[in-house]
Amino acid sequence: MGCWMFHKLTLRTLSALAGALASASCPLAHANEAKLMSYGKHLAGECSSCHRIDGVDNGIPSITGWPVADFKATINFYRDGARTNPAMVSVAKSLDDEQLKALATYYGSLPKRERRSATK
Ligand code: HEC
Repeated sequence: MGCWMFHKLTLRTLSALAGALASASCPLAHANEAKLMSYGKHLAGECSSCHRIDGVDNGIPSITGWPVADFKATINFYRDGARTNPAMVSVAKSLDDEQLKALATYYGSLPKRERRSATK
């Protein structure tokens, strides 16, 4: 939706503002990725009661700004039992691959604060 139009607009007139607002890959994304992004944003409603969208660790780890592959790998630790946090195991098992990809793309586009490495 707005993403692509915003991109065109910013190219002409708002490039400075774009830098500030669009730390996300959003404006550069092609159509598929834009779709994934908005799907991910929608799904993230399920996560944001625990994980802050601004990436601040409030006792629950920050999940913003991760490479997509790391994000997926980490969720898979909960799916396959390498990690056992009950809340996250149930979250991870409720996600299908498309949803995981969308969430990884969306969260990956958000500014990074701090993170642990994608190892258990
Ligand atoms: C009920 C609260 C809660 C919800 C809802 C929740 N999480 Fe979590 N999440 C946690 C906690 C607590 C941890 C840390 C668990 C651990 O130590 O293994 C965690 C860990 C993670 C990690 C690994 C973080 C790291 O630094 O290793 C990822 C990735 C993650 N969650 C993604 C998600 C996604 C995506 C959603 C939504 C689909 C979600 N979580 C929903 C509580 C939650």
